[in-house]
Amino acid sequence: MSDLLKNFKKHGVVVLKNFFTNHEINLISERAKELASSKFEYLYLISENKINKSFLSKPKFDSIKNELLSCCVRKTNEKELRIKTLENFVDFVQPILKKYNSEDYLIEELHAVFSRPSCAIPEDLLFDDVFSSVFFTDKIINLYKELLQSEKLIYSGESHIGYNYPPVHGWHADDQVNYKENTSEKTFEIRGGVYYHSDEKNSGGIKHLPGSHYYISPSKLIKKLIKKILWRENFNNSIFNTRILFSKNSFFGKRDFGAWDKRLLHSPWAVKLKKFSWLNLSPSIEKRFHRGSFPRSLAERNPFPRSLSILDIGRQSKALDSYHEFMSERRDYQDYWRMKSKLLSQNFISKLASKNITLNDYCIKKASY
Ligand SMILES: [Fe+2]
Repeated sequence: MSDLLKNFKKHGVVVLKNFFTNHEINLISERAKELASSKFEYLYLISENKINKSFLSKPKFDSIKNELLSCCVRKTNEKELRIKTLENFVDFVQPILKKYNSEDYLIEELHAVFSRPSCAIPEDLLFDDVFSSVFFTDKIINLYKELLQSEKLIYSGESHIGYNYPPVHGWHADDQVNYKENTSEKTFEIRGGVYYHSDEKNSGGIKHLPGSHYYISPSKLIKKLIKKILWRENFNNSIFNTRILFSKNSFFGKRDFGAWDKRLLHSPWAVKLKKFSWLNLSPSIEKRFHRGSFPRSLAERNPFPRSLSILDIGRQSKALDSYHEFMSERRDYQDYWRMKSKLLSQNFISKLASKNITLNDYCIKKASY
């Protein structure tokens, strides 16, 4: 067994440093920018309402707040301004911050306040010509085959490009259904992710709970036992898979590729402290560096912009079918699956088959009919 596979089995996550070439990262980045501009009417909305609900409502930010509002009125005659690109946002905000000698990182905070809540571009990474020249390659597909220990793969259409995400903190699993079950089945679906704008020197990586895809923590085991006794809920865990788990921060460079079991618990943003970069804080504390009273200057700056593209591939498994059933019913995913209906074409199915991948069309078909 390779070290990579051994590591993945134990921790449920691997980060491959400099996996992509600079050319591949430029292709992803340019295509994402092009699509963001054609698919989104605007990337930022500056409004009085957002200003008043944000940290800008504190008296010490009065001058910036008033300047922002008066710029909006000057430009649009209203207290609301839509900005189409990241570059235009920087051009708009930077002079105001300079005028009031604000800290450099304030632009990241303003980005989080004004950027649109969802910046996922639902273009498919294996369908789009540019993205598939980077992702539909032997380098990528063979990695999934090795980690899943299967020559036959399943693709259900779950892949997209995120563009310029605002920070989000908090634990979650990408496959919540099977994380809850915690059946200690070996990996059946992997999420691969590339933070194609990031720099590992900065904050803003990802916080994992290694082992949480397979092992069960003592507190979760006790909760499941109580639910079994009181409400006869499923309890199909082996107590021998109980472990005390410790979280770990991973800070990504733009060429790195992370692959994690979709049941793995993680928080999608990690704070790197300047003097104690090894210190791993809980997401509830990290939040305070952005929205609370913790001195922001103690932490390394955030990557700005910060974007994640993801590609999910699995292998045959009943647990994967349960996940698809759950995802097919999520109301917030109905448009996502409908936009993927182009994957049902014979050409695309044959393209996947050329690398021994089958299209599982369950979610797409259920949303389309
Ligand atoms: Fe996630």
